[in-house]
Amino acid sequence: MAKLFSGIQPSGEIHIGNYCGAIRNWVRLMDQYECIFCIVDYHALTAQYDIPTMQKRIHDAARVNIACGIDPKRAILFVQSQVPEHTELAWIFNTVTPMGDLARMTQFKEKSKQNEENINAGLFTYPVLQAADILLYKAGAVPVGEDQIQHIELTREVARKFNARFGELFPEPAHLVPKEGARIMGMDGKSKMSKSLNNYIGVLESRDEVWKKLAPAVTDENRKRRTDVGNPDICNIYSLHKAFSPEETVETVNRECRVAGIGCVDCKKMLHQSMMTTLEPIQERAAELAQQPALVDQILEEGAARAGAIATATMTEVRSAIGVR
Ligand code: TYM
Repeated sequence: MAKLFSGIQPSGEIHIGNYCGAIRNWVRLMDQYECIFCIVDYHALTAQYDIPTMQKRIHDAARVNIACGIDPKRAILFVQSQVPEHTELAWIFNTVTPMGDLARMTQFKEKSKQNEENINAGLFTYPVLQAADILLYKAGAVPVGEDQIQHIELTREVARKFNARFGELFPEPAHLVPKEGARIMGMDGKSKMSKSLNNYIGVLESRDEVWKKLAPAVTDENRKRRTDVGNPDICNIYSLHKAFSPEETVETVNRECRVAGIGCVDCKKMLHQSMMTTLEPIQERAAELAQQPALVDQILEEGAARAGAIATATMTEVRSAIGVR
């Protein structure tokens, strides 16, 4: 079976963008690939973070992933810092990665702008560590949201550069992006939903909390009155329907919005219902797992042991290829 790798930062609450862009797809792909999922704590060091609560965020990220349907019997789930080969390979990859390629990365440019007082070298070489994450397992597929495509393209470039210099060792992985939900927007409909912008709906948020965020969300701004017709194609709520609602609901919304058959509040109420139908079973499982912290720890420990075995084997090949012992 071909290998698949993906990761998520433990940088805060997991939100519906992470769920639609990545985790939901991970769950769907578990039967088709040998899957390896990673909580990338070393990546999270590149931004300011609260040290005392780091372990809690890592644990919560694992718990939510399992609650979303990641099955530790069918997939490896582990924490990046528990497998030191990730940083070892990243160093080696640094030596074949052109600085110019890294300087072009959109995420680097955005994060540098957001965080002018802390533009550290880790932020710059972030995609090199990401390439190491993926290639350490010789993964052929990487399911991600749209914002990560550029990093997977760079991963292919790193693989090519390494293979050209030291011999064919790594595959060039493909990115897998979902048809709907690859780029979930925040409630203003203008910026991508993200932890750092604090414009997100968390996967574990209650019915009331979710409604408080949906109710004031921006829709088609040209539709000012209930009697105005709307254009779903430019409405964020409609995009969210496509990510969460059954097909009939999506069709109804698309048809009725255009003729002012439904208003924006009706439309949001329908979306709220669809979202909670998806989120509530996850929230129940997450609550159950919160009662079993030792189980989550054990899953991560076993995951690290299984990932570590693959990582060690790859590094033996890499060391031999580059001429060190
Ligand atoms: P991170 O932690 O920002 O996000 C985790 C996953 O969620 C997706 N995502 C979204 N999808 C749709 N709409 C959104 N608004 C949205 N926000 C986030 C991301 O695309 C991602 O798939 N660099 C990565 C983590 C990483 C990784 C890896 C991923 C490290 N090593 C190796 C794949 C393979 C990141 O910061 O993701």
